[in-house]
Amino acid sequence: MKTILVVNSKGGCGKTTLATNLAVAFARRGDAVALADADRQKSSIAWVKRRDKSKPGIVSLNWSKVENIGEDKNKDLDVIVIDGPGGLRSELAKTLIAEASEIVVPVLPSVFDWDATFKFLDAISELKRVRKGKAEIHLVANRVNRRSTQIADLEDELAKRGYPVLCRIADRVVYAKHAAHGEGIFDFADASSRDMRSQWHTLLQALD
Ligand SMILES: Nc1ncnc2c1ncn2[C@@H]1O[C@H](COP(=O)(O)OP(=O)(O)O)[C@@H](O)[C@H]1O
Ligand SMILES: [Mg+2]
Repeated sequence: MKTILVVNSKGGCGKTTLATNLAVAFARRGDAVALADADRQKSSIAWVKRRDKSKPGIVSLNWSKVENIGEDKNKDLDVIVIDGPGGLRSELAKTLIAEASEIVVPVLPSVFDWDATFKFLDAISELKRVRKGKAEIHLVANRVNRRSTQIADLEDELAKRGYPVLCRIADRVVYAKHAAHGEGIFDFADASSRDMRSQWHTLLQALD
């Protein structure tokens, strides 16, 4: 079983968007998937409730309280995607990372977010599990706008610090639309959104 933690100390950087879309990507290829919500806002739990029964099912786990983390995992699952909380106290980070084999960190191009993200990456890199390579960090640039020039600078800065960015996910309103219906972009196979789906391929490959 693979456990993927989507996390960043910043709120609003796309943790729930990435977690739900990753869950759909794995469910669509036939994996037994659970989406564990570790955020008090419980956005992922609400997303699963909105998901239509006709779509590939995703099990919902409530890990929003520290004492419930790790609960209700079962051997039949292939993948658990954890939607991490906004703002991570170090104990909670350790508890969640202890569950994870992969750590996905969404970052926004906005310059205001950089320092918090660098600090966060340095903090989780210090954890023994990450140092020993038992949990690998994957960076994803999210809400990338074609006109944004900041993203290249951010990627340079991150690469210099030893954190290469795996892929760029575009800023598209369709992500919010799908979220409202308990869906993700991998629920659709239309040609017009093929480019959007292909932006996820390097991440999905790295998680395999
Ligand atoms: N790639 C994207 N394109 C457009 N909107 C996005 C994208 N990623 C996230 N959003 C929007 O940004 C807001 C915050 O995203 P969310 O996934 O809820 O972040 P977090 O869980 O980190 O707080 C939401 O309204 C979401 O729909
Ligand atoms: Mg969220």
